[in-house]
Amino acid sequence: MVLRLLGQAYPTNMGPPKAILVPALGLTLIISFVVFLHSFATIDSSSFGILSSAAKNDTVATEVDLKSSAHQKALAERAHNSTLGFGEILYISMPERSDRQDAMTLLSTTFGIRIKHFAGVRGSEMSPKAMPDGVAKKTLPSEIGCWRAHANAWRYLLESDMDTLLIFEDDLDWNVNLKQTMELLSLQMQNSKIRQTEPSDYERANAPYGLDWDVLDIGSCKDSGHPNFTDVFQVWDDPDVAGLEVIKRTKMIYESLQNFGLTDDDIGKKRLLAPAYLTVCTSAYAITRQGAERLLMEMSYIEFRNAVDTDMSRAFRDGRVRGYMLTPPAISQFRIGGAKDTDNRKPGDPRLGNSINGKGNLHGFSANLKDSARQWMVEKMQLNNWDDYKQVREERKTIVISDDTSA
Ligand SMILES: *[C@@H]1O[C@H](CO)[C@@H](O)[C@H](O)[C@H]1NC(C)=O
Ligand SMILES: *[C@@H]1O[C@H](CO)[C@@H](O)[C@H](O)[C@H]1NC(C)=O
Ligand SMILES: *[C@@H]1O[C@H](CO)[C@@H](O)[C@H](O)[C@H]1NC(C)=O
Repeated sequence: MVLRLLGQAYPTNMGPPKAILVPALGLTLIISFVVFLHSFATIDSSSFGILSSAAKNDTVATEVDLKSSAHQKALAERAHNSTLGFGEILYISMPERSDRQDAMTLLSTTFGIRIKHFAGVRGSEMSPKAMPDGVAKKTLPSEIGCWRAHANAWRYLLESDMDTLLIFEDDLDWNVNLKQTMELLSLQMQNSKIRQTEPSDYERANAPYGLDWDVLDIGSCKDSGHPNFTDVFQVWDDPDVAGLEVIKRTKMIYESLQNFGLTDDDIGKKRLLAPAYLTVCTSAYAITRQGAERLLMEMSYIEFRNAVDTDMSRAFRDGRVRGYMLTPPAISQFRIGGAKDTDNRKPGDPRLGNSINGKGNLHGFSANLKDSARQWMVEKMQLNNWDDYKQVREERKTIVISDDTSA
C-alpha cells in the first residue's frame, strides 16, 4: 500500500505555552469537554457521533463533527486525566520491592497519575506444566517470571471492559510535562499519516491514541526503525523533548532518528512516531484489546523464548505484532546502580556491581529526559519548616499587637 505525506507533522499550534492557553481557552474547552463526555457516557454505541442536546432526548440531536479540531482537542485533553488517556495504568513490581513501590507511589501522587500495583511473578515458583513452549535453555527464572507478569497484565485487559491498558515497570522516570507530551502525541495519532486504515467513528469519538495498534511503546530504552521503511514516520515539535546532547548519549536513539532523516537541527526538538521494529525494554507500553490477544497468542500460546522485551521486539521485526514506537521515548528507566537496579539478573552477575545500594535515589540517572520527574519531585517536597515559622511569627506579632490596641 502507498503511504502518503510521510514524515510530516499534523500542525499543532505550539505558540503560547499551556499556562497561558488554559485561561484563554479553558472555559469553552472544559464546558464542551464535559458535555461531550456526558453524552458518550449515556448513549449506546450505535449512536456515536451524535450529541444529544438534552440527555436521553433522542428527538433533539446535533451532529458532532468528529473530525473537527475542537473535538480532537477535547479528546487529546484526556491525556491529562489520571490515566493519561488510557483505560488504566498498572505497574508491575515484585512483591518484595517495597522500595520501588514507595517511589512509584510518590511519583504517582506528585504528578496526578493513578497507577495500580500489579504483582511480579517469581519464575522459580512456576509449575513446569505452565511453561510455554520454546523457552531457551539460557533463559533465567527471573526472565520467565517477568514474562509471566506481563502476560498476566495482558489478560487483565482482556478480562476488563477497557479499550487500552498502559503497563509500567517499577523503575521509571519521565519528563515533568509528561501529560503535555502525551497530549501532543494524541493529536498526532488522531491525525496519523502512518495508519494503514482510516479511523472508525468509535476511535474518533473515544480513543485519544486511536486503536489501530497492538502495542504503543512510549518507554523503549533503545530503538531503531525498519531499514526498508524509513520513509514511514511522523514527526512533530515537542518543547519537552530532551536536548541534542542528551539524546546523543543514547546512540541507538540518536542513530534511529538519523536513519529517519532527522538532522542535528531537528534532534532535540522533535519527537517521532514510527512502526515499532527493534525495541529494547518493556518499561512503559500500552496495549489494545487486539494487542493483548495477539501478544498472548504469539508469546504464550505459540511460544516464549528469551525475555519479554526481546520476544516482543522479535515479533515486531517479524511483522507478527503491530506496534508504534515513540522516539525519543516519553518514559525512561531510572538507574541508581548496584543490585537494586534490576530484579532480572542472577545474583553475582558482574553487571550488578558490588554494592546493593548503588548511588542512592538522590543521585540516580535517567536517559533521554529533559526535566526529570524524580528530581523535580524531590525539590518540590523540600521544606524549611523553621524558616516558615519565623515568617509566620513575624506576621502574627503584628496581628496580635493591632488586636490588643483595638480591644
Ligand atoms: C425533547 O424533544 C422534543 C421535540 O423536539 C421537545 O419538544 C422537548 O422539549 C425535548 N425535551 C427536553 C427535555 O429537552
Ligand atoms: C482517561 O481517559 C480515557 C480515554 O477516554 C478513559 O478511558 C479513562 O477512563 C480516563 N481515566 C479516568 C480516570 O477517568
Ligand atoms: C530490505 O529489502 C531488501 C531488498 O528487498 C531485502 O533483501 C532485505 O531483506 C530487507 N530487509 C529487511 C530487514 O527486511
